[in-house]
Amino acid sequence: MIAMKKNIILFVILLAVMQLQAQPDLKVDALRVEGLQEPLGIDRGNPRFSWKITSAGRNVHQRSYRILVASSPDKLARKSGDIWDSGVVPADQSLDVLYAGKPLASFKKYYWTVEVKSNHGGAVWSRPATWSMGLRDPALWKASWIGINGHRKEDQVDSVFTRLSARYLRKEATLSKPVKRATAYIAGLGLYELYVNGKKAGNAVLAPTTAEYDKRVVYNAIDITAQLKQGRNALGVILGNGRYFMMRNYQGKPDPLTGIPQANYGYPCLLVQVQVEYTDGSTAQIVSDQQWKVTDNGPVIANSEYDGEDYDARKNLNGWAMPGYADQSWKTPDIMPTPAPVVEAQPNEPIVVKQKLTPVALHRTASGSWILDMGQNMVGWVAIRVKGKAGDTVTLRFSEKLKTKDSLYTDNLRNARATDNYVIGGNGWENWEPRFTYHGFRYVEVKGLQYVPDASQFTGKIVYDDIATTGWFSSSDSTMNAVFRNAYWTIRGNYRGMPTDCPQRDERTGWLGDRVMSSYGESFVFDNARLYAKWLQDIADAQLENGSIPDIVPSFWKRYADNVTYPSAFILIPDMLRRQYGDQESFRRFYPAMRKWMAYMWNTYNEQDLVLKDNYGDWCVPPESLDLIWSKDSTRVTEGGLLASAYFYHCSRLMENYARLLHNETDVQYFSGIADRVKSAFNKRYYNPQKQQYANNTITANLLPLSFGMVPENDRAVLFTRIVDKLKTADNHVTTGIIGGMWMMRGLSDNGRTDLALQLATNTTYPSWGYMVGQGATTIWELWNGDAANPMMNSGNHQMLLGDLLVWYYEYLAGIKTDQKLTGFKKVVMRPEFPAGLKQVSAYLDSRYGKIASAWKKQDGQISWTVTIPPNTTAALDIPGNAATIRESGKLIAGQQTFTTSRVSDTVTRVEIGSGTYQFTVANP
Ligand code: BGC
Repeated sequence: MIAMKKNIILFVILLAVMQLQAQPDLKVDALRVEGLQEPLGIDRGNPRFSWKITSAGRNVHQRSYRILVASSPDKLARKSGDIWDSGVVPADQSLDVLYAGKPLASFKKYYWTVEVKSNHGGAVWSRPATWSMGLRDPALWKASWIGINGHRKEDQVDSVFTRLSARYLRKEATLSKPVKRATAYIAGLGLYELYVNGKKAGNAVLAPTTAEYDKRVVYNAIDITAQLKQGRNALGVILGNGRYFMMRNYQGKPDPLTGIPQANYGYPCLLVQVQVEYTDGSTAQIVSDQQWKVTDNGPVIANSEYDGEDYDARKNLNGWAMPGYADQSWKTPDIMPTPAPVVEAQPNEPIVVKQKLTPVALHRTASGSWILDMGQNMVGWVAIRVKGKAGDTVTLRFSEKLKTKDSLYTDNLRNARATDNYVIGGNGWENWEPRFTYHGFRYVEVKGLQYVPDASQFTGKIVYDDIATTGWFSSSDSTMNAVFRNAYWTIRGNYRGMPTDCPQRDERTGWLGDRVMSSYGESFVFDNARLYAKWLQDIADAQLENGSIPDIVPSFWKRYADNVTYPSAFILIPDMLRRQYGDQESFRRFYPAMRKWMAYMWNTYNEQDLVLKDNYGDWCVPPESLDLIWSKDSTRVTEGGLLASAYFYHCSRLMENYARLLHNETDVQYFSGIADRVKSAFNKRYYNPQKQQYANNTITANLLPLSFGMVPENDRAVLFTRIVDKLKTADNHVTTGIIGGMWMMRGLSDNGRTDLALQLATNTTYPSWGYMVGQGATTIWELWNGDAANPMMNSGNHQMLLGDLLVWYYEYLAGIKTDQKLTGFKKVVMRPEFPAGLKQVSAYLDSRYGKIASAWKKQDGQISWTVTIPPNTTAALDIPGNAATIRESGKLIAGQQTFTTSRVSDTVTRVEIGSGTYQFTVANP
């Protein structure tokens, strides 16, 4: 069944065709079951059901729902919910309805549908959907972890460039009867590919997702029904290193900061269990054990995510994953140490090939090699079609930039070799692509071809998490559009089952500080809910017994620096998920761990009511000289203690709010008590009431307390003028690093200076996002001066400098923002700014309820604004003008029943609407 294909989470996009008299176009679709990924077999096995209602009608909302879950399609067709019948529930809830039926059994497939009644009368059933359960009880695993617990002498494990050949494992099994359903539950560390009777199973690449491997590893569920047959079958698995077997041997060195040894988890290992259901209802299993065979003498002779993959086609193991292959020379696998106490279903989307690019140009260098230009800084690899003599090597090297026309600029890769080698087998045209590496690049140098190649022989494969693009933004300003596009490419290039800092150099890790705010901006463009919820689990897993959490998660580098700003991601991201997706689960689930970190920081580092621990400062402020990475100019740099304590204050208030949502009065008091103390100590220490400025008066120093509500009420206005003055001295260019940048754009608009925010957004001179565009960037850089700084830390594909830019694009320019109480866009708050200098803005967001769109343009002295709101939501629009002057579809709204209006101010009217598309026009003020 297609719906079961990848994972236990199912994405079932269905279109219901039922008709309804009163609202003939009403449909219920996009059913989704979530939550099955919870730790297996323990107390968290209950799925949550969501559905989307579509209708072009106005004011459509759900009156009631009824969910049926059945054990067979027939029963569901007869509308018998033998597993669960929720009954008619008179509620408008259409997201995350918690399962409350009979206990769900491991391996079972279930069938469900939902009936929705709307306020327009009648009832619509969705088309049936399915999901399947995984292993709910660890005791159900009959498979063993197998592999080779060692390495060949050709491998290198104690040099910087660790190399290991891939392991090939195989097993044949006879299935005695016709197969009705077969699922492979598989965890292969660091990376695996599963083959069934010679064909790759599933479409995931670089699977499974990363995890805090010594705490938890994940398995994928792959439907292999169509690939298995009665009779003799073969399973084959290739194991690569991924992040499990060290990509670098840190020479046994501990992390310089903390003394904790750097991560290496072990040699690659495999756990696989195939559950077969025969047509007669009986079952069979195929499990990994010492009945399998293994070799490390296959064609993948080396693999590393940093350095690339080496493949020798002369060593191809033809037919190795087919029945009947002669594997006498293969070995019996070792039983491997169990990696982690928890093995659970992967909760986030798999990585897949999302797009393909053909080079836009290719040219021959003086030395005879070829340089391909992909036309875009992309992340993934290049599939090649080549021919040559057996034993000739084709080498591909990757870089983001060129040094000269004929040479790659690889200085900023540090020691990542980013090189793939393919040794030709010598059988005519050969197709190859790597499987256990990826690169961040725009240019590729190809060496070793004895002929003039054609661009069509190279395919750039863009790989990242299989999550939907949910939004797009455009405006009358071409710089802003180009920046948006670059942001889009940067974000997608840095989703790798964890949000990474960069995709190209010897780093590619999940730095918490980089995502504190940009995770929020990203959520307008990508459905990143499951990725970030999963990352929170990784963070919780990486937490030390004492409460400390690291700056990099999964903690492949052990950076437990105990600063505030970076780990604060653990406190802020649950709030992003709550607001943007209506996720009521994450903050609840991780609250104990979040609380533990807060208490640890407070109890360990509190100095006179302040937590001053900082490590990175306002990372990456534009420096005084273009070749610098870090500014040495004390007037640009904000004191670390100020950043730490302001963030600790903000985190305390968030915790107070979570505690309130959890009805935990004691903790509400605890965190509000901390927040009050921090605030007063902060103002005592950093605020200069004479000068009316914080610390050394940098924008960040003033902006954080202003954004967090720490500034004495009467001083807010004047403090804001400090920010404006400081901006002026920078000729209205950014002066902030990533910490200040998280609040910058909104800070300006919230204080009435959208004009200045717009200037920052549209600047094209250094330092600005537009400057990067002007230099030919197709992604966002790590440094404002990425064109000139030391390559030691200068990635061309880093999203952290985006700060709150995308949030500002969406919430302030397009006016697409969720209500704070009716979260997840159940109610949309639409208050666009219409700044002089912008003629037009258009954006959409495919929210969990459906598509929200906002498009305004100024023309002939008028603003026309078209708005779409999905069924089962409402919106409050702030429109310039008074009710008597606003028209919708040409008619004055005054007196029309569809609209509830209220006065916001002399110049602004609030208009409340239900679902549908509306076209407002008002005079341009
Ligand atoms: C990473 C950053 C990170 C920083 C902190 C860099 O090497 O790429 O994104 O925030 O280190 O030190």
